Amino acid sequence: MKICVVGTGYVGLVSGACFSEFGFHVTCVDKDAGIVARLERDEIPIYEPGLDDLVHKNRVAGRLDFTTNLANSVKDADAVFIAVGTPSRRGDGAADLVFVESAAREIAANLSGFTVIVTKSTVPVGTARHIERIVRETSPEADFAMASNPEFLREGSAIEDFMRPDRVVVGVEDERARDILARLYRPLSLRDAPVLFTGLESAELIKYAGNGFLATKIAFINQIADLCEAVDADVQDVAKGIGLDGRIGAKFLHPGPGFGGSCFPKDTRALSVIAREAGAPMSLVDAVIASNDARKQAMAKRIIAALGGDARGKRIGILGVSFKPNTDDMRESPSLDIIPHLMEAGADIRAFDPAAMERAAEMLPGVDWQEDSYTVAKGADCLVILTEWNEFRALDLNKLSAIMKRPLLIDLRNIYTLEEIAPTPFTYHSIGRPAALRD
Ligand code: UGA
Repeated sequence: MKICVVGTGYVGLVSGACFSEFGFHVTCVDKDAGIVARLERDEIPIYEPGLDDLVHKNRVAGRLDFTTNLANSVKDADAVFIAVGTPSRRGDGAADLVFVESAAREIAANLSGFTVIVTKSTVPVGTARHIERIVRETSPEADFAMASNPEFLREGSAIEDFMRPDRVVVGVEDERARDILARLYRPLSLRDAPVLFTGLESAELIKYAGNGFLATKIAFINQIADLCEAVDADVQDVAKGIGLDGRIGAKFLHPGPGFGGSCFPKDTRALSVIAREAGAPMSLVDAVIASNDARKQAMAKRIIAALGGDARGKRIGILGVSFKPNTDDMRESPSLDIIPHLMEAGADIRAFDPAAMERAAEMLPGVDWQEDSYTVAKGADCLVILTEWNEFRALDLNKLSAIMKRPLLIDLRNIYTLEEIAPTPFTYHSIGRPAALRD
């Protein structure tokens, strides 16, 4: 069985590498010759633990190729996965399908023998049928069927998520296509991963509904954290208390500075547009988007308030700028709202991130980038933990406080406990804890 994956971004590269690990022959296609050349040298353009080894191993074994030649790889393929980008369209936030549509036209022109065309990118409901029309118009004789196979990979644990998924979702309405996809995912179904076959629209909606629900959970616990502060409750206890209810579940109940990344912000906006356009607006999702936007601003205000209400001339040290740990991804990271807000208020920002500084430097001009947490803290009026990288969990707090101008720690990820902070000179602010633990 031969697979062609169009697009070597996050989704395409991880899926392609994992399918080749199952033993299938995979060709990953990208228009960008520079990216293809780098991949052929095992240089991975994204930060994803374990991906370099997986690519190297399967490339050397002859199961994983990279090319700019879409035509040849589509001709040979039993399944073609579309994994190109679907950015938010400027203006209305709907997913922009321009890359998907042009991939579909090119694929259509090169089909040979029965082929299943699979959308792996996150695409609005109705896209699989839209692509089907494009392919039919371009190549009326082509023998093909559509499938929708959304991915549920998290950055930083994408390989583990692919290899041990909670479920695989396949929207498919053609028997031959269903057989091909069942064979592709057999290595996972043999390990008891549920493979859910649905119609095309349901599979497309499962992806948005899943991300919309997870984003709602986060927005909910963030508002509960605000309420905890107002009534002297502890959000860690509340999250544990509700999370033990199997119907709610303990995951994705960590309060923080708001969700970011390449998925939740984009997908909640797209879900809102899909729902409105379908005549079934989702006021809940709209409220989640608004509360998450407001939260990022509120976090900046909170830092300024901890500094006594005036950030002018104050030096603020920032630990972590990526939207979450184990990635260098800066897309829609809360740091991109919080840091400019603090700079506009007159603060001088020093920052460190274990992986994202190169990317962040272009997006956050004016920040003084440092090589470690301690140089960030030196002479600072306060230190803010924005991303919960493991290396920030065991800082030498006495050493840190001694080199700061003022021992003020604002932990927007709650990675420290009061017991750890109490013996240190720090004034400690965290999220959703009673005043006694918070201030
Ligand atoms: C998310 C989903 O978790 C994946 O299942 C999905 O496949 C992916 O989007 C996608 O659509 O491609 P990802 O964006 O990599 O994955 O990251 P998450 O781990 O979900 O975190 C997203 C944001 O929510 C981060 O900013 C994180 O800090 C925040 N978050 C997450 C919280 O604030 N609290 C939590 O409890 C969990």
